[in-house]
Amino acid sequence: MKASISRHAHFNAAHRLHVKAWSDEKNAAFFGVCNNPHYHGHNYALIVTVRGEIDPVTGYVMDIQKLSEAIEKHVLIRLDHKNLNMEVEPFITLNPSAENIAITIWQWLRPVISHELGIKVTLYETPSNFVEFDGT
Ligand code: NI
Repeated sequence: MKASISRHAHFNAAHRLHVKAWSDEKNAAFFGVCNNPHYHGHNYALIVTVRGEIDPVTGYVMDIQKLSEAIEKHVLIRLDHKNLNMEVEPFITLNPSAENIAITIWQWLRPVISHELGIKVTLYETPSNFVEFDGT
């Protein structure tokens, strides 16, 4: 039998949405306030969901403490209180949209979680707006 377990985390980060190949006018028109050249911040909420078979001995899909530690060590330490565009690869060249941040978090976690388990990243940029990425 399969189940999903999830861990909730938070980080704060600054970013600017901007396409270098576009003019300043086109960027401002497309991204609006998110194109502010002086950056802006978000209180991001992150939910990482791991899905797989329940181990018949332990009753666990995965030790959620290990999941918590993986999120801290591989995600939060890289993003929390950072300027994404200036300090964090791959966002020095990749637009730090919620979509691209969710994909990047998934890519950071995939190598450190058992390949038998599926991973889904849900990233809230605001309480109303969120993105999901599960590797597909
Ligand atoms: Ni923003």
